[in-house]
Amino acid sequence: MKKKLLSVFLCAAMAASLLVGCGNAASTGSSGSAGGGNGKVGVAMPTKDLQRWNQDGANMEQQLKAAGYDVDLQYASNDIATQVSQIENMISSGAKVLVIASIDGDSLGTVLAQAKEQGIKVIAYDRLIMNSDAVTYYATFDNYMVGTKQGEYIRDQLDLDNAAGPFNLEIFTGDPGDNNARFFYGGAIDVLKPYIDAGKLVVQSGQVDFDNVATANWSTENAQSRMDAIISANYADGTKIDAVLCSNDSTALGVTNSLEANYTGEWPIITGQDCDVANVKNMIAGKQSMSIFKDTRTLAAKTVEMVDAIMKGTEAPVNDTKTYDNGTGVIPSFLCEPVFADVNNYKELLIDSGYYTEDQLK
Ligand code: BGC
Repeated sequence: MKKKLLSVFLCAAMAASLLVGCGNAASTGSSGSAGGGNGKVGVAMPTKDLQRWNQDGANMEQQLKAAGYDVDLQYASNDIATQVSQIENMISSGAKVLVIASIDGDSLGTVLAQAKEQGIKVIAYDRLIMNSDAVTYYATFDNYMVGTKQGEYIRDQLDLDNAAGPFNLEIFTGDPGDNNARFFYGGAIDVLKPYIDAGKLVVQSGQVDFDNVATANWSTENAQSRMDAIISANYADGTKIDAVLCSNDSTALGVTNSLEANYTGEWPIITGQDCDVANVKNMIAGKQSMSIFKDTRTLAAKTVEMVDAIMKGTEAPVNDTKTYDNGTGVIPSFLCEPVFADVNNYKELLIDSGYYTEDQLK
């Protein structure tokens, strides 16, 4: 039911953004092939459960078709075995290029070795695919910068350089199998760690290291239950939580749900990423302080440039050739710029640009 509603909502969102393809974006079926004669591109997305991947998939499909490609778009319900078998099918059904947003960056080595053997090129989409030499390009956002912006926001809002403090902070990052999570966490912690070390920021739960603050599958429910436990052990008496660093919107949603149910103190600063509709609504309602806007239309456009270059035997434009080593060497990358969003600029960023309609945010 939840998925159906999300689907309906997304169709409206996509239509409003002049994007197409919802009807084709079934979670298990192929999206067919209305593109053209330029060859087939397989697009493997992790899940339909999170809003952003639906947008990514729809954008990729629409833009690839417009460029004359046949598209096989698949979503894998966050299940690694499903994603592997979807990729196997793409290989056997004649895809020339694979665009993959992996569920677990380390689990695709074997299937991608098959792709390589058959001369099929691979583009890692948003998330780096690790330990595979089959990856030609990586298209993503500057993931470290995402974390830096979140950390700087907390630093500036609490005025950590001048205020006496100490302030209470809790930390939520993403799935350990997603290479991005370490970049988001790293960017933020590099800003905040000096204040933690100096005692100006205090993490009452004691959970600071990546492994202790990771959220399996980036799941809202997992974040919520961890926050429930943190509140009951440390803040049940109304002790103020000053800030919660959340690496993305699905974790921020879990934290917000938990605070609403269990917390009686003054509302904390909460960070996020993706500008998901539920979270933008929370920003408008004063329940989430900021998010990071990653325009998935831009990422899709950059990825289509890479597909084009591969198909034509030329080189795609990249802007980073040193950051993303996947264990077999540095993967030439294009890093799109993540943008800070809050209640003051969301209209310009999200509505004026056609990403959402005003009604969707009501
Ligand atoms: C993406 C984020 C997203 C998260 C959870 C990350 O790899 O970069 O935008 O919030 O996955 O899906």
